[in-house]
Amino acid sequence: MIGIFDSGVGGLTVFKEISTNLPHEDIIYLGDTKQFPYGNKSKETIVELTQKNIEFLINKNVDLVVIACGTATSQALEEVKNKYQIPIIGIIEPTILELQNQTLQSIGVIATTGTIRSNAWEKEIKKKLPQVQVINKACPLLAQMAEEGWTNNQIAKYTIAEYLNIFHHTNIQKLILGCTHYPLFTELIQKELGEQVEIINTGKNVAKYLKNMLKKQEKHQPQYEFYLTDLESEFLRVANNLLQQEIEIKLVT
Ligand code: DGL
Repeated sequence: MIGIFDSGVGGLTVFKEISTNLPHEDIIYLGDTKQFPYGNKSKETIVELTQKNIEFLINKNVDLVVIACGTATSQALEEVKNKYQIPIIGIIEPTILELQNQTLQSIGVIATTGTIRSNAWEKEIKKKLPQVQVINKACPLLAQMAEEGWTNNQIAKYTIAEYLNIFHHTNIQKLILGCTHYPLFTELIQKELGEQVEIINTGKNVAKYLKNMLKKQEKHQPQYEFYLTDLESEFLRVANNLLQQEIEIKLVT
């Protein structure tokens, strides 16, 4: 059984890729909506919240945890990964594995303020591809807008145009969506940057990584459970829309 967590709905973009590519795995999803947003919190707080989320999932008997949150991956994964008996997987390493053998000159990274402040993407990219230019841009409003379901309206369009303007003066070949909420804006982002820029949804790389890791899958109808730490959010509407199915939510007590 796989445990996945994020601060809110963003991790569902990773859930979607994992459940599609590993259709026989049971999954428990935890959205820490009580503490949302993670993007503007200190590293210390992110480490603390990450540990709490991992421990919640371990208590539910998961065999591995996916940190489906760029903010927690970039600031807490290194701190926590050796503390537990089970594998803890973030969104950065699986993505770097995909990029490392490609010929690239310039990559863009968009993410939360905390992720960009940590510089984790640039550090990891440069370890494998030292010659690549990395252009980082924090887009702090996007995760909030995604939680509201504002991912394809006029406000989203203008916000994306404003944040991504910097990339019109560069020649990036790829844009990493370093926050798991951002794949919800894929259509607008692709329109803004044009088809020549490849948009990277990290959830796809995580799913591929897990598929390699969990080779033997017993064929059975998977069980999914969705937990939130607070119910006061648009989570259900956004989730049902994204997953195209009615999900049931349990409150963490
Ligand atoms: N989805 C998360 C991330 O990837 C968190 C966004 C937030 O809570 O600010 O960074």
